[in-house]
Amino acid sequence: MYTNEMLESMKKVEAARSANAVLEPRRMTAEEKETLLATYHPDYKQGEFAVLQIGANKGEKVPTELAELLQANSRINPAEIDLSKVDYDVDVLIIGGGGAGASAAIEADNNGAKAMIVTKLRIGDANTMMAEGGIQAADKENDSPAIHYLDAFGGGHFAAKPELLYKLVTEAPEAIQWLNNLGVEFDKDENGVMITTHGGGTSRKRMHAAKDYSGAEIMRTLRDEVLNRQIPVVDFTAAIELILDENGKAAGAVLMNMETHEILIARAKTVIIATGGAGRLHYQGFPTSNHYGATADGLVLGYRAGAKLLYADTLQYHPTGAAYPEQIFGALVTEKVRSLGAKLINVNGEAFMHPLETRDVSAASIIRECSDRGNGVHTPDGIGVWLDTPMIELKNGEGTIEKRIPAMMRMFGKYGIDIRKEPILVYPTLHYQNGGLDITADGMTNIENLYVAGEAVGGIHGRNRLMGNSLLDIIVFGRNAGKNASSKSKDVTLGALTLEHVNKFAKEQAEAGIKTDVVSPKLLPNYARRK
Ligand code: FUM
Repeated sequence: MYTNEMLESMKKVEAARSANAVLEPRRMTAEEKETLLATYHPDYKQGEFAVLQIGANKGEKVPTELAELLQANSRINPAEIDLSKVDYDVDVLIIGGGGAGASAAIEADNNGAKAMIVTKLRIGDANTMMAEGGIQAADKENDSPAIHYLDAFGGGHFAAKPELLYKLVTEAPEAIQWLNNLGVEFDKDENGVMITTHGGGTSRKRMHAAKDYSGAEIMRTLRDEVLNRQIPVVDFTAAIELILDENGKAAGAVLMNMETHEILIARAKTVIIATGGAGRLHYQGFPTSNHYGATADGLVLGYRAGAKLLYADTLQYHPTGAAYPEQIFGALVTEKVRSLGAKLINVNGEAFMHPLETRDVSAASIIRECSDRGNGVHTPDGIGVWLDTPMIELKNGEGTIEKRIPAMMRMFGKYGIDIRKEPILVYPTLHYQNGGLDITADGMTNIENLYVAGEAVGGIHGRNRLMGNSLLDIIVFGRNAGKNASSKSKDVTLGALTLEHVNKFAKEQAEAGIKTDVVSPKLLPNYARRK
């Protein structure tokens, strides 16, 4: 199944393996990284961005595909929506059934609020479920939240909102305990101590994992907790527009049944957007590691209602998406593979970079190797570099791969590739939305009573996120939003419901001369073949 070029290159990788395994490729200098990013990272390709003509971030640039959705037409005509017929009446409406939404629901429930989750797919169909490598927390003796802060702040190009990052790192150890108490089966040694490893850009081993299906294990636990508590979950129902009250405060959402297209009205004293990321928009034509519903819906809902975005121009391309075989093109190959000792190797068998540079730098370095340097390995459908997985067992002993990264072994094993014996081919894949809706430390946007948690938030990580800080942020900021939105709901007296903001946005659109057939939120990707 491999081409001759692939087989020839693989022989070189094997021949150099022992030498490469002990080689310590040096880290890049700050100047080298800057030049590399500016030249090769997709965020720096000016032609791929558009300037917003309307809305709270008018004048700022965002990816062209996102601009199209942010400035698109609503799915509803407000004149046809009867807001007096309320189908659901709750204290806290949570839009999104991933890790952030579930964490928020649990805390709102703890606080005695009537919470409800609506999700366009099923609870747990989310990027959380697909997260692999782990969750960061500084809970070992040689570590501290301050060191965690410095790693993440530097890795994010010093752009994180300090109060958000502070919250993330200081509440991390407690988040791990919370998950452990709920029943998450973290990897532990024979004494019951949690095993921790490095991720790209971490100066201490603080990655806690459940093998290489950490997200699935966390989501399984959170989903069970939501269901055991009998918190209402409305599956296959999308939020397609926010509802405000006459005072401009968030007051619910217009919902649409995904099968029947029936419109339903949810009234709520507070609303939490926890809709996740945007990988299925395939920015710049990249494949994605994201789940099927990752279409930036929360950003669209918030933006049309007047909420501000922060850093919506920055995306994360995970350095190691599967480049071969084509059946798993773009699927995540966890960074844990490199944490355990696998190195990135070019077509000539050379280890061309330190394996644990931060993600943006690693991705740009792979793109350079495959483009200007001409050192990529051609596959029948594309290009990639080797990730030399057999090095893991050279370094850590036989059995390590099966024990620590069984999902990777299984994913490639299905296609006849034994990652204990053969290297695998990787190339960057669209993985994470660094930017999103702007919040304060209590989780609220500039719209009163509208909260955001999880990947739909911008500013926690700055302009690049470290591995394991996303599973962490969905827990810390999910719980935070759940606690604060439920407390706030106790003081809310709702005014009359309105969709006037939708009319206002349409007017702005017309005044700016925007003519489009596109409707948003997108809800699902369109993979239908075009003629
Ligand atoms: O590589 C990974 O396992 C991904 C982790 C993350 O995005 O935090």
